[in-house]
Amino acid sequence: MSVICEKVPQSEMVEKASYDDVYDFVLVKLSERPKDIPVARKWSMDPCFMPIKHERNAQRIVDFRVKSDDIWLVGFPKSGTNWSQELIWMICNNLDYERATKLTVSERFPLIEAEGVIMNNWPLKDILAKLGSSPSPRFIKSHLPCQLLPTQLWTVGPKIVYIARNLKDMVTSCYHQYVNIQGFKGSYDDFIDIVLDKKMWYSSYHAHVSNFFNMRNEKNILFLTYEDMKKDLMGVIRKTSKFFGKNYSNEQLEGLVKHLSFANISKNPSVNKEQMLIDYENASGRKRKDESFRFIRRGDGGAYLDEMPKEVIEKLDRFTESEMERLGCDPEVRKIFYFNGQLLG
Ligand code: A3P
Repeated sequence: MSVICEKVPQSEMVEKASYDDVYDFVLVKLSERPKDIPVARKWSMDPCFMPIKHERNAQRIVDFRVKSDDIWLVGFPKSGTNWSQELIWMICNNLDYERATKLTVSERFPLIEAEGVIMNNWPLKDILAKLGSSPSPRFIKSHLPCQLLPTQLWTVGPKIVYIARNLKDMVTSCYHQYVNIQGFKGSYDDFIDIVLDKKMWYSSYHAHVSNFFNMRNEKNILFLTYEDMKKDLMGVIRKTSKFFGKNYSNEQLEGLVKHLSFANISKNPSVNKEQMLIDYENASGRKRKDESFRFIRRGDGGAYLDEMPKEVIEKLDRFTESEMERLGCDPEVRKIFYFNGQLLG
């Protein structure tokens, strides 16, 4: 399957979308819908907006050799992916708290497209080569949309967990990351403009979530939501353990709920990414704008309600409506996109 990376022509919106020293972006897409993959009939083939660095690895990722015992986590950025990685890794590693402390979650469960793609001053490590020689089972994360993941995912069929989060909380969380980590130079309104213009990295969000929602009943896919993790973490842990064929005692499960709580994750250096942020600040020579910013920030379902002006909420809800229509989404997925914020607090 061949990948096409089209340079996005410069425009006012592309200028707004720039961050760090990234001014150039590509629209990444497949040359055609894969004919021999039955689930691909359910995909929107929307191109994916990415910093130009992704060009280097896009085809290599699509061609990546998948193993049947690989364990994948896929999700749009800022959807609780690090939280889900810790959940999955612990469940699949017999709750090995000792090893989980020794290595960071990014080392145990690397991002296939490499942190350096989205964090411009971060060295672009060759994760693909490293993964190729890693022992099984390999734990692999990606923020890429389904059609740009390795083609073999859909033929070899390893277990894949997808994590979805509502649009407004994801956008709120992403805004803080863009401003504090990515060196985004624009205003809040500029940021909302790029969201609506699908010029935030990995866009389109709606196609990303809806494609996996359509595949949620495949036997090798577990579809989770951030909101369910907030509402009933124990229930999600039980469901995930069952998916991976693991059995734990109530006491062990309660221990894991505690380990994954916001209070513990925020102060757990192997998951909270604070050291990575400090290293990134040193590499980029730029401090976070808000000194109190932390990667594990608020951890709320519904934080948008007190951070997002009413007119922005309305704009994003209208955006969801038009994207649902454009993509022909299952009406059921609307509740994931919208989320009325009842979890707050
Ligand atoms: P907020 O910025 O809204 O607080 P990702 O890992 O995909 O980048 O997602 C980051 C988001 O997940 C952040 O959201 C972060 O606080 C939240 N998160 C991480 N661990 C969490 C936990 N234990 N409980 C609730 N939210 C958590």
